[in-house]
Amino acid sequence: MTHKRKVAVLGSTGLVGQHFVRMLDGHPDFKIAMLAGSERSAGHVYAEVVDWAADGEIPLNTGKTVVQPTSVETVVASGAEVVFSALPASIAGPLETALRGRGLFIFTNASSHRADPDVPVVIPEINPDHLELAARQKRAHGGFIVADSNCSTSGLALLLAPLRPLGIRSVVVTTFQAISGAGRRGLAAMDIAANCIPFIPNEEEKLGREPGRILGTLDQNGIHLWPVPVRANCCRVPVRDGHLLSVSVEFDRAVEERAAAEALTAFRGLPQEWNLPSAPAQPVIVRTEEARPQPVLDAWAGSPERARGMAVTAGRLRSRDCFLDLFGLVHNTVRGAAGTCLLTAELALKQSLLDTK
Ligand SMILES: NC(=O)c1ccc[n+]([C@@H]2O[C@H](COP(=O)([O-])OP(=O)(O)OC[C@H]3O[C@@H](n4cnc5c(N)ncnc54)[C@H](OP(=O)(O)O)[C@@H]3O)[C@@H](O)[C@H]2O)c1
Repeated sequence: MTHKRKVAVLGSTGLVGQHFVRMLDGHPDFKIAMLAGSERSAGHVYAEVVDWAADGEIPLNTGKTVVQPTSVETVVASGAEVVFSALPASIAGPLETALRGRGLFIFTNASSHRADPDVPVVIPEINPDHLELAARQKRAHGGFIVADSNCSTSGLALLLAPLRPLGIRSVVVTTFQAISGAGRRGLAAMDIAANCIPFIPNEEEKLGREPGRILGTLDQNGIHLWPVPVRANCCRVPVRDGHLLSVSVEFDRAVEERAAAEALTAFRGLPQEWNLPSAPAQPVIVRTEEARPQPVLDAWAGSPERARGMAVTAGRLRSRDCFLDLFGLVHNTVRGAAGTCLLTAELALKQSLLDTK
């Protein structure tokens, strides 16, 4: 029998934390040793304090767990070897650094460390080799921090990686982002009901910056950014889950719709090759119907069962000369957050990065 690694989930009562709890239920390689929350929920039974909004029911046994306060001491005392962090960026930074110093392996959704030169921003199908930066951190600090990208960036990067061999010159993306992207208590109904808000703090900057890092190359000096400009416009829309992206890609040469569709459909990475537990069989699904993808119909794309919500859906591909227009859809709290972190941890485990000896 394989030894399951003990994990702590920080921010376990929030929207992203709930998806960690959901996806870790019955996981073959990881088991929950600790659920942490703020002063609001610490000391309470998880099922009684969480405002459950993830798919399905609260996992039965995990639901009985008492939520712990969030600190270096409580995490270390839990015996956790791996930390999944779904903390607000305002508090994640120093805590994650301190936990790394205690030899823990941190996979984080918070943006606090995404710009650190030694912290990789990983989407396992695209840049698994960037985990070499985690190995370097491990040698220097005992533990490491690995970040996942901003939620919209996860979807965009999974559309761009398969198209990259066709010669991308520039990208323009407009997002239609779900309410759940702002967290459990993020938006007042009065502001978003039957409305669109054409401003999401720091989102356009993240979309402009993070694809260059994920699609960049790594050598002994660090990451060399992918040199393609990405311009973004971001909008919050009254959708529960799933960020829709309108993407216009300019290529070096004329591109055919069929070649683009084939590249997207054929795209696979190490998670598929190694059959990792949370890997979708097909990371990018191309729909040919005229009105897809839609959040209501496509947010949970992906199979097998454990990988529901892990596939990005593309549709409405249209090409003219050197330009391709398309839509993409990503489940923001699954592929855009908890799911990618978990898949990265599965990859790190497979690469023996979670070994302490
Ligand atoms: N939502 C998304 O689509 C998405 C996508 C990608 C990345 N992210 C990032 O993931 C992180 C979590 O997002 P979310 O949407 O899950 O937010 P959320 O629903 O607001 O949840 C925040 C979580 O953090 C905990 N928390 C808040 N203040 C704390 C404190 N002072 N000490 C300890 N714990 C504290 C909360 O605990 P209590 O419930 O006990 O107060 C809750 O568990 C953020 O950094 C966000 O930017 C979110």
